[in-house]
Amino acid sequence: MGMIIDGKLVSASIKDEVKQRVVELEEKYGSKPKLVVFYVGEDKASAIYVNNKEKACNQLGILSEVVRLSEEISEEDLIKAVNEKVDDDSVNGILVQLPLPKKFDEKKILSLIPWYKDVDGLTEKNVARLVLNEEGIFPCTPMGVVDLMKYYNIDPCGKNVVVVGRSILVGKPLMMLLTNLNATVTLCHSRTQHLDEITRRADIIVMAIGKPRFLTQNMVNKDSVIFDVGINRLDDGKICGDCDFENLIDNVQAITKVPGGCGPMTIAELMKNTVKCFEIQHKDE
Ligand code: GUN
Repeated sequence: MGMIIDGKLVSASIKDEVKQRVVELEEKYGSKPKLVVFYVGEDKASAIYVNNKEKACNQLGILSEVVRLSEEISEEDLIKAVNEKVDDDSVNGILVQLPLPKKFDEKKILSLIPWYKDVDGLTEKNVARLVLNEEGIFPCTPMGVVDLMKYYNIDPCGKNVVVVGRSILVGKPLMMLLTNLNATVTLCHSRTQHLDEITRRADIIVMAIGKPRFLTQNMVNKDSVIFDVGINRLDDGKICGDCDFENLIDNVQAITKVPGGCGPMTIAELMKNTVKCFEIQHKDE
């Protein structure tokens, strides 16, 4: 049987470190990091994510505010609301929960956030820093995968890593992070031909395409290490990943579970990014 890579365990250890750091920062600067989350409209999955983010902040002593806005709000008023938090020195991190309702220009809204408050790592400056392999704030889910690798001593250097999914939140930034760690990365997606041949040759596979139980035994080899970033809600209400876990666990070297794998890591990384933003904003004091 393959090893289960335990995201709950690793995220708990990261959160402990963050909690300690928040105490130190408060002693040093007399204030705590603060995260503001914009939740516009009523997307159901987003409601759960936003609650989880708020809960994690509370656990770690990070101040949090959720700005809940109706889908009816005008783009002009949303811009005004975001800019208020941009100008507020007590706010260290700003996150606009995605997807925004269709009527809003997502790119325009995200571009209001300065790079040093961009806890999602989605603004042009942070994307450029990632590509240039410079210090910056990088997306939480890919950072979670990298930290899971670190914790389990899985060094991607020189390895053949296949990332399946090319989203701006996961696939693309993960491709860059792993390239910067000297992996040989192949970025596959829904249009990739002969995907099974490509994934079978991989040392490490990261699944992030949002298709339930898509990766099966015939697509892997017995030495594969698999990270499942997928969170899919099935008709019966249950959650499952992009991997057919039951089918794979006996036939691979190691794999994450859903839930309890990459999901909790995303939240832990968001907390880490919020503290990092606070530190950047206070570094000259
Ligand atoms: N929607 C789903 N995941 C995320 C995330 O990591 N950040 C934001 N802003 N929206 C999301």
